[in-house]
Amino acid sequence: MHYSPRSGRGHLSALVAPLLALAINQAQAGQVEVLHWWTSGGEARSAALLKEMLEKQGHSWKDFAVAGGGGESAMTVLKTRAVSGNPPAAAQIKGHDIQEWAELGFLASLDDTATAEGWDKVLSPVVTKVMKSDGHYVAVPINVHRVNWLWANPAVFTKAGATIPGSWEEFITAADKIQAAGLIPLAHGGQPWQDATLFEAVALATLGTDDYSRAFVDHDIRVLSGDKMVLALERFKSLRQYIDRDSAGRDWNIATGMVISGDAAMQIMGDWAKGEFAAAGKVPGQDYRCVAAPGTATAFAFNIDSLAFFKLRTKDDQNAQQVLASTILSPAFQKAFNINKGSIPVRLDMVMDGFDQCAVDSMAAFRSANANGTLVPSWSHGLATTSQIQGALTDVISNYFNDDKTTAQEAANKMARAVKAAM
Ligand code: GAL
Repeated sequence: MHYSPRSGRGHLSALVAPLLALAINQAQAGQVEVLHWWTSGGEARSAALLKEMLEKQGHSWKDFAVAGGGGESAMTVLKTRAVSGNPPAAAQIKGHDIQEWAELGFLASLDDTATAEGWDKVLSPVVTKVMKSDGHYVAVPINVHRVNWLWANPAVFTKAGATIPGSWEEFITAADKIQAAGLIPLAHGGQPWQDATLFEAVALATLGTDDYSRAFVDHDIRVLSGDKMVLALERFKSLRQYIDRDSAGRDWNIATGMVISGDAAMQIMGDWAKGEFAAAGKVPGQDYRCVAAPGTATAFAFNIDSLAFFKLRTKDDQNAQQVLASTILSPAFQKAFNINKGSIPVRLDMVMDGFDQCAVDSMAAFRSANANGTLVPSWSHGLATTSQIQGALTDVISNYFNDDKTTAQEAANKMARAVKAAM
């Protein structure tokens, strides 16, 4: 800057004003430590965007990533930190767990920000119900993931002379052809939460949305141990023959990578898988196809990611939490984040330009399922029930899938007993 003594007051204020602004900004700068499990390629890109948008507003982000798809490890770490009186400022907490943490007195209210920004007007009541405890906002929703998707590599289908399936019968026909051609029909990671995710898709198709809700939301014991559940379990078990031998312990994104590379034909997984295709530069409709999991075209099993905020002591940090919450629901963030993450915006007033065909299809499916009563919460991702019941069901499902001793009827009875015990 060129200094001229004659510039007098004008010059001084030009010099001092930015310093003052800096001082004010510094006084208001807070830090938010964010616990999440977004560590795969697509997930990490998405989390980085939120960090960047927060930091642009003068606050700092302390990353607390705990690897492990589905978030079970992250939740274990969170409990340890909270019990020792040192919870992070924000944590990825979902579904019923939000109310549990709120009832224990851990969570800060987001009501001021929510009222100022009209959250009630831009969010669906299906979503706000999950984010509120006792009528108060204690969490901010980030996105809507659809869990019942099938991801397919069309080149593999062409090689095997198979057609991308819409029903379970078609799935079996296609999988047999792909296997006969010496290729892997189904990419899967043998981790309990992935077994549960796969079973959820089969159960949704076999039970239909009404009985799905009776079993996994209302915990109707007769449906849990009934004939349709037994059939769902049989179908589920029959998928094992289409999975390669090395699946034990495999992470979900490695399984997605098998479809991307053409080592496998399909994966049944929520649309966070699309984040992996996107991170690999793949184009839907061309390099890969997204269709509803077999037999679930009219259903939408939803999984909403959300951040809950823990009570903090300093005003600056509290302020930074509110800024983070407000950033998450800003249209700019909703668009950029969800394009990377594979989900759709949680705001109802967003136009879908810039989103790919899978996201446009997902939004259409969400709206029509909402209107037709076929929108159901994902139990395997913590939206339908408590984490105790989710955990108990996951154990039964995963053990049944991986051993050869239990019959489908025995597994169904075990599910009913496990739910009863955890209620
Ligand atoms: C889900 C979560 C998604 C995705 C997935 C795999 O539970 O809602 O955002 O990250 O786990 O890690």
